[in-house]
Amino acid sequence: MTDFLKPMVEIEHLHKTFGPETAVKDFNLSIAEGEFVTLLGPSGCGKTTTLRCIAGLERPESGEIRIGDEIVVSPEKDIYLFPEHRNIGMVFQSYAVWPHMTVFDNVAYGLRVRRASSAVIKKQTTRALELVGLDQLAERYATKLSGGQRQRVALARAIVYEPKVILFDEPLSNLDAKLREQMRDEIVRLQKEVGITSVFVTHDQSEALVMSDRVVVMDKAVIQQIGDPQTIYANPVNAFVANFIGVTSLLEGALLGRTGEYCDMEIELGNGQAPLRIQAVGGDGAEQGSSVILSLRPEDITLHTEAPSGTSYGNLLEGSVIDTVYLGSFLECRIQVGSHEIGIQIDHFEQLEPGQKVFLTFQPNHGLALAS
Ligand SMILES: Nc1ncnc2c1ncn2[C@@H]1O[C@H](COP(=O)(O)OP(=O)(O)OP(=O)(O)O)[C@@H](O)[C@H]1O
Ligand SMILES: [Mg+2]
Repeated sequence: MTDFLKPMVEIEHLHKTFGPETAVKDFNLSIAEGEFVTLLGPSGCGKTTTLRCIAGLERPESGEIRIGDEIVVSPEKDIYLFPEHRNIGMVFQSYAVWPHMTVFDNVAYGLRVRRASSAVIKKQTTRALELVGLDQLAERYATKLSGGQRQRVALARAIVYEPKVILFDEPLSNLDAKLREQMRDEIVRLQKEVGITSVFVTHDQSEALVMSDRVVVMDKAVIQQIGDPQTIYANPVNAFVANFIGVTSLLEGALLGRTGEYCDMEIELGNGQAPLRIQAVGGDGAEQGSSVILSLRPEDITLHTEAPSGTSYGNLLEGSVIDTVYLGSFLECRIQVGSHEIGIQIDHFEQLEPGQKVFLTFQPNHGLALAS
């Protein structure tokens, strides 16, 4: 990760309600100059509302937002700047291009509104079109463009007046899978090339992990965790984040105590099976006897078709195959363990039959205990 120094967007104690509903609750985040931050979370968790508060399209009840050195909103200080005075570019899900204008005029529009000279308009519009790879199509009408090309026009429009910050609200969700990936990589390349501070909203976790310097995971109007993609994936702070980021199996249990760096846990298997003692890492903040959740990633579980000789730490689960799904380079397999379904990944050459008895093991440092 790049080291970022100067804050560009600072959000403190942001609070926004719609009638009885709290859309964003005590949101705090400092985004550095040139950083790419993604707001990630399920539908309705408050991502768009946060973005719209930064843009000035929603007015929060309380809190403060600064962009650069300027306070753009603070109900307490009676400050509110209109969107057009915030020096922000925006790209939304809908392409928002004007059909009756050429590509060039669509992109130049923002500069014309700002009464830029024609020399500046020509220079900056041409540069923005080059950056998004549309310089050859400058004179084409926007109606004669593909979805991906329209989204590039929207991107060029957002960057043409060289704003301090660019806000993206699910800009890729109207594109098909392949184009989506291509545009995703292009946005990242463009962002690094221009070095513009970016806030990107998505509910697609793989998009967030691939694109971002840092990810802000939200649920029910509240930030759950802020961290770089590796941290969010490997060290989720709670079961919500573990479950939302990537695939994981969650098993409830209790913390018995600690042995060195490991937590000793007893997990409930259900379906009449005796509770199982295991060792895992994590368990931060959990006290002895309190309930904890074991998070197991599919790639961290080893499958055995014969009972393996015992492990010193006892992380051995017995189960039966439910089904397998072919995913190209590997198979995804669901295993019934007690009342749980546990997902694992296996090499494609392994033959598994539904109902077949199997054994699962995992290293203590591959299981993560999470305070529930
Ligand atoms: N203009 C509005 N009037 C009333 N309620 C609203 C309004 N805008 C948003 N909300 C509510 O605020 C909450 C947060 O909405 P928001 O649009 O920020 O969610 P989101 O995370 O962007 O979801 P999605 O992934 O579906 O776009 C939701 O419960 C939503 O119903
Ligand atoms: Mg939204």
